[in-house]
Amino acid sequence: MTMRIELGERSYDVIIERGCIEKAPSLLNLERKVLIVTDEGVPKEYADLISKGSKEAHIAVLPQGEGSKNMAHLENLLCKMLQEGFTRSDCVVAVGGGMVGDIAGFAAATYMRGIDFYNVPTTLLSQADSSIGGKTAVNLGGTKNIAGAFWQPKAVLIDTETIKTLPKEQIASGMAEIIKAGMIADAELFGMTENPGSASIDEMLTRSLLVKKRVVESDEREGGLRKILNFGHTIGHGIESVTGMLHGHAVALGMTVMCSDEARARLLTALEIAGLPTEVDCDKNEVYEAMLRDKKMKDGKIDAVWVDEPGTCEIVELLPEELKKRIEML
Ligand code: GLY
Repeated sequence: MTMRIELGERSYDVIIERGCIEKAPSLLNLERKVLIVTDEGVPKEYADLISKGSKEAHIAVLPQGEGSKNMAHLENLLCKMLQEGFTRSDCVVAVGGGMVGDIAGFAAATYMRGIDFYNVPTTLLSQADSSIGGKTAVNLGGTKNIAGAFWQPKAVLIDTETIKTLPKEQIASGMAEIIKAGMIADAELFGMTENPGSASIDEMLTRSLLVKKRVVESDEREGGLRKILNFGHTIGHGIESVTGMLHGHAVALGMTVMCSDEARARLLTALEIAGLPTEVDCDKNEVYEAMLRDKKMKDGKIDAVWVDEPGTCEIVELLPEELKKRIEML
């Protein structure tokens, strides 16, 4: 199916279809210079498929992991485009997970003040969240995503066949974002995640993308509503940086302490079904410190997202001490 993200002149199609990478040459405009950014963990054949369909392809393979999302690699990507004579009419294609999409998108946003960008996410996590919405960034000075830009892709190709080769924990990590979408805005989707076998991953992924589409269309630059997509992330990012666990696993834990007791009981069931953690053994003070580094405060308070009942949520302003108490509940 094709889902259109309606953002005026920045509108684009998200194509969700098994095997759609193979159709990339007819779905994307690759009749120009194309910088394909991927990482060592992504099956080489995906980048090769894009390369074969391009007029002039250049492939940049980054080391796997969040550590590559830095200024040094960004500079390498920009220099490569400069050396190869890329102009404003050329483009960047990200083929991989969230790290690749974030840095490749930021390279596209900054090269010659912005060139076309296509995203081909190949992990469930990036298919469910970061590949749409236009957030691009690198990490800097120990802070995640601190240098970045809103730069919408020209199209997103979600080939759900690619998740077949992912390790189980990577699927679980992506399921966390799908469960999140259900918790904040789609009770029926949340119900699917509570009832194994009631829906396929493709169906749940598409529904969670519909949640993200609605949110991004009404608040592209996170002035308000888009903050709800950060449910579980305020504390989750702290857990992620202290424990090094996968993003979705940390977000899963972050969600467990930001909802009512009733919602929490149901959330724990959904997390267990998805193979996600429901408790963690780590230094809670370190998580608190990491969360404070990550989150910008406004008038001494931090915006967080609270769920009373799956399918609805509210943005609440909490004092750091209130979040500390929540972290202690982990
Ligand atoms: N990942 C949250 C957002 O795209 O706003």
